[in-house]
Amino acid sequence: MGSLLVDNIGLLVTADPSQGDGPLGTLTGAALVADGETVAWIGPRAAAPAADRRLDAGRGCVLPGFVDSHSHLIFGGDRSAEFAARMAGQAYTAGGIRTTVAATRAASDETLAARARSLVTEALTQGTTTIEIKSGYGLSVPDEARCLHLAGSLTRETTYLGAHIVPPEYADRPDDYVALAAGEMLDACAPYARWADVFCERGAFDADQARTILTAARDKGLGLRLHANQLGRGPGVRLAVELGAASADHCTYLSSDDVAALADSVSRDSPGTVATLLPGAEFSTRSTYPDARRLLDAGATVALATDCNPGTSFTSSMPFVIALAVREMRMTCEEAVLAATAGGATALRREDIGRLTVGARADLTVLAAPSYVHLAYRPGVPMVREVIRGGEQTPSATVGTPIADHSW
Ligand code: NIG
Ligand code: FE
Repeated sequence: MGSLLVDNIGLLVTADPSQGDGPLGTLTGAALVADGETVAWIGPRAAAPAADRRLDAGRGCVLPGFVDSHSHLIFGGDRSAEFAARMAGQAYTAGGIRTTVAATRAASDETLAARARSLVTEALTQGTTTIEIKSGYGLSVPDEARCLHLAGSLTRETTYLGAHIVPPEYADRPDDYVALAAGEMLDACAPYARWADVFCERGAFDADQARTILTAARDKGLGLRLHANQLGRGPGVRLAVELGAASADHCTYLSSDDVAALADSVSRDSPGTVATLLPGAEFSTRSTYPDARRLLDAGATVALATDCNPGTSFTSSMPFVIALAVREMRMTCEEAVLAATAGGATALRREDIGRLTVGARADLTVLAAPSYVHLAYRPGVPMVREVIRGGEQTPSATVGTPIADHSW
């Protein structure tokens, strides 16, 4: 593989404030050298060491690859009619998940894998170099296990979400389903999962049921995350903090106690339970956006992710999520970019991604723009020019127009 010099960078975003200016640790006139899969050198362009290959960033902005810490990419079927009906006035209900469960169970491994692979490629072309993928549309022991097995061929960040909803065949005996999800199903899935998640919400699983499943998962060595407070206020966020979960995801309807619990979970030694905000879901369900300012101002750790799934948020685009966070949730451009890179890495408890520092993975995105601000300033426009993953240029990611040296 050898070494790669990324040269002629207009603005380098390290996402590590100790390395440069402002909260994003930006550098001008910098270059970066990757040796194999790792960042080996960052410094002034004129002092860059020789490398086997050179990538001309065309004076574009270079930033860490996005870390999408929440997605549901293993599914069959199509729910565009449900989306259209919603836009015509119908409300979202979690019951739509059952449609996808039926289609997923009916789909072959090849069909599920091909769909998921194409979504991962779609995300990569938009700058996502790490993606978490959940199960949750199988909801039987063999279907959950095969969905996680397929997810594991695409990412190491796999999450067991057997407790997404109670499937129809258990509708009249939900406690038996909780026992299955905390027992036989967990046993079958744990070998393929790094994380466990539960949809803790009215109409899905209550706090006691979620605690049963998550503590069983923790005993098996899985890290914890939760779908919490998406459709209304409830116990999810506080349960996530109580269990020391890595993240509480959605956080759309929060009480003052929820905000305080998330903020108080942060300490000098720990980022606490990360509040992962998923504004693609509010966009696509036409709901109120989470109050990001309240969380940030209270001192909670915030991440942004796509929640890519066929029901509530069928987007794989982290740039779109950044634009929503800035426009609709009043995050600054710096806060949004940080939450989509270092924030996502923290939500996955990863130190090697989400920041460009010597020793980190050489996962980076070159924009066809002089600044990261353009991610929000030019919504819907393909701003990603090149994506480097593990020190390798990803050919399929070469999109956007080459930018002239002198244009800014
Ligand atoms: O994160 N809320 C739970 N799960 C998904 C939606 C699933 C669906 O509607 O298919 C979410 O938004
Ligand atoms: Fe989700």
